[in-house]
Amino acid sequence: MIMNTNYNINNVGETVTLKGWVSKKRNLGGLLFIDLRDRSGIIQLIVRPENKFYEQASSLKNESTIKVTGEIIKRESVNKNIPTGEIEVIVNDLEVYSTSLDLPFEISNDCTALEDTRLKYRYLDLRRENLKNNIITRHKVVTSIREYLNNNDFIEIETPILCKSTPEGARDFLVPSRVSKGSFYALPQSPQLFKQLLMVSGFQRYYQVARCFRDEDLRADRQPEFTQVDMELSFVDEEDVMQMVEGLFKKVFKDVINYDIKLPLMRMKYDDAMELYGSDKPDLRFDMKINNITKIFENTEIPFLKSSLENNNIINCIVAKNVATNYSRKEIDKLTDFVKTYKASGLAFLKFINGELTGSLKGLNENEINGLINELKLEENDLVLIVTANYNVTKASLGALRCKLGRDLNLIDINDYKFLWVTDFPAFEYSEEEGRFMATHHPFTMPKDEDVDKLLTDKGNCYSKAYDIVCNGYEAGGGSIRIHDNDIQQKMFEALELTEEQIEDKFGWFKDALKYGTPPHGGLAIGLERLVMLLVKSNNIRDVIAFPKTASASDLMSEAPNIVDESQLKELGIKLDI
Ligand code: AMO
Repeated sequence: MIMNTNYNINNVGETVTLKGWVSKKRNLGGLLFIDLRDRSGIIQLIVRPENKFYEQASSLKNESTIKVTGEIIKRESVNKNIPTGEIEVIVNDLEVYSTSLDLPFEISNDCTALEDTRLKYRYLDLRRENLKNNIITRHKVVTSIREYLNNNDFIEIETPILCKSTPEGARDFLVPSRVSKGSFYALPQSPQLFKQLLMVSGFQRYYQVARCFRDEDLRADRQPEFTQVDMELSFVDEEDVMQMVEGLFKKVFKDVINYDIKLPLMRMKYDDAMELYGSDKPDLRFDMKINNITKIFENTEIPFLKSSLENNNIINCIVAKNVATNYSRKEIDKLTDFVKTYKASGLAFLKFINGELTGSLKGLNENEINGLINELKLEENDLVLIVTANYNVTKASLGALRCKLGRDLNLIDINDYKFLWVTDFPAFEYSEEEGRFMATHHPFTMPKDEDVDKLLTDKGNCYSKAYDIVCNGYEAGGGSIRIHDNDIQQKMFEALELTEEQIEDKFGWFKDALKYGTPPHGGLAIGLERLVMLLVKSNNIRDVIAFPKTASASDLMSEAPNIVDESQLKELGIKLDI
């Protein structure tokens, strides 16, 4: 397809036909200048007053679609910002394909319209250059990924969208069956079981650009329907999968933004990530690790710390370098409110100024003062922010505070990418809500060899062969080596406190497959939107999806979800009770 911006100074003198949208019009001393836009960009047209269609051209509304024929000439005032900036086209024929209504907002990168308005008119929003470029980048990413995986002997295979509902993970989206009234399909949260079955079938290397559906609370990096680059490999261990995925990231970053990722990527065990960064997806673009200062306070007489330690809590802190004087009491109160949203009961602070520690932590003894100064290597004007609570609350609140300070204090170079693998996840997480252990990754993840025996006896200390690829604080992808042995799979289901009946009902079909010669296998799924967000440096997932949903999971343009006709419900045997 010939794009308008394919033309340049070498085409001067040629007569060309151009099609596109009227982006902007200006009248300078009778000459009408039109910026004509197509997917590739802008080219400048000139309409002279003597042209028979001058009046029609003058009254063209922005964003109307037109066809022009004209001669390319050299431009007097060159515009270095656009590829066609050295030329313009003297129009000698004009056809208007379609006139645009007045626009609900201006089609420009610095458009200030509310996001809701832009989502309602998403087809217009997508005309804005930065959004359009994001969607084009997404296409380039998928092209590069397909190239890489095809060259590495992967086969692209589609798996069903209408599936069986299985417990674990997020809530399913359900689809009622008309043929079997009262029965429901579930939309896939991921193609996990199908890709494992493809390994049982012998395909050895599979991938799919797969749509996934999860009915969960939405966040800036989560949508109810999203896309995974899903892959699975047979006869592999953790190392093989990680190497394959690293190679993929390296190619994509090179192809799409010409960025060189240094391999191999750094590795960090889950426990270390939580200990030092309070997150299983640490942002390593800045330092500010979490310090465990429990020991310094083991004999403390400060009442709230003393009682906290008596309750088996820990004391941790982060140090913000050289900013103590920037933080007034009011500013610290704001940080306190922030950590409270992570269930911390408060935030103590100390400022190291003129060699002395002052702040909300009163009554420090000599040992504690020296311990803090030496262990934290405090320097003039450092700010120490302290939380005491149980392990999870302490780490989560300081981990989040660390990221907030990283942003607030401009410690993050936004042009930087810091990748790492987080490995050795605990196999189980205790759910207070459910009152039982749940699978951290999913119930098909292989425990570490040395922990297989702990599946039924010591779940809290059982680790798994799971790994996440993390970049700049985002979980870009996650995967694991799978259980290929039916007995271990059975034990895993038992560990998750599923009854024999539930196991048979939900997973019998899958467990049977494992009995017919299953290769050791493992894989990973990349969150395609997260990857594109990283590449285009956006922190809003909607910026990389052509037709996204709002935070309340609706499409403002087509107004989905919506009520359906009574007759449709009747056909499905459904009566509403709302
Ligand atoms: P997991 O649940 O970790 O693993 O998902 C893989 C990756 O998908 C992305 N992701 C999302 N992106 C946008 N919106 C969401 N709601 C959303 N949820 C997840 C993340 C995540 O890292 N079957 C396993 C993979 C495997 O074991 O091979 C799975 O789905 O980037």
